[in-house]
Amino acid sequence: MQMKIKPITGVIGAEVEGFDLTSPMSKADNATLRTALSKYQVLVFRDQPITPQQQHDFGASFGPITVPKVDSGGLSAPGITVIEAEYATSMKPEWHADHSFSEKPPMAAMLHAVTLPPKGGDTVWINTAAAYEALSAPMRTMLDGLTAQHDTQRMLRRMAASGKTFNLKMDHVPVHHPVVRVHSDNGRKGLYVNPLYTSRINELGEAESDAMLQFLYEFMKNPEFQLRVRWSPHTTVIWDEELTIHSAIADYKEPRMMHRLMIDGSKPIGTRTFRQAA
Ligand code: SIN
Repeated sequence: MQMKIKPITGVIGAEVEGFDLTSPMSKADNATLRTALSKYQVLVFRDQPITPQQQHDFGASFGPITVPKVDSGGLSAPGITVIEAEYATSMKPEWHADHSFSEKPPMAAMLHAVTLPPKGGDTVWINTAAAYEALSAPMRTMLDGLTAQHDTQRMLRRMAASGKTFNLKMDHVPVHHPVVRVHSDNGRKGLYVNPLYTSRINELGEAESDAMLQFLYEFMKNPEFQLRVRWSPHTTVIWDEELTIHSAIADYKEPRMMHRLMIDGSKPIGTRTFRQAA
């Protein structure tokens, strides 16, 4: 069967039909999927009853698999993290780009639906390039020159408040990334800040930074930039981590379990050469 890529919204997301994630990936299929990922940012594959190892192998066709910084949940396949409902109910989900607190955050990530609630539990992605492009030219010019600190402080506070213990393997050293990131594959520019890991814009005063980040988060939440995925059994999604943020929706009480993995990325590049804040 021929692979078909069907856009879902006008700005983000496509359903991929006629492709079996367990079959060996040809060079042509790999190139088609890479181009589609770069263009649509979120690719949705329905009815893919894959094992953790098959998920790993599919992810590995895009690049090296990231070693997760939270306990893997004991799964045999390297790089797979189990994300369970308890996370969502004990810690309300928050918009984020995975591991933006790393020097080299992942270029893409993948979720596979293992157990789903009868209703709810969708995931929403935002195209942060579309958001950036919708800003006025003077605002874009100002943001182009800025950098922001990303760290794990807010995540750690949320984890402590949830009363759960997590086995984290990270050194919690803040990193600095451009506020406007240039996509490593297609050169598109987009916002690279998120409420979970971005703590401040380095070049602004504290009050200015707080107000600017708040404005950007509200601006990005415009439904025009969003894709909402309704999961069905064995749905698998791969998404671009460079110019999107995402959040699960905690509107369910029943068990929900996903298998996630991330694919190694590179150090984010800004629109201008910027000096790393110390
Ligand atoms: C995540 O926030 O990385 C997982 C999203 C989800 O469980 O839908």
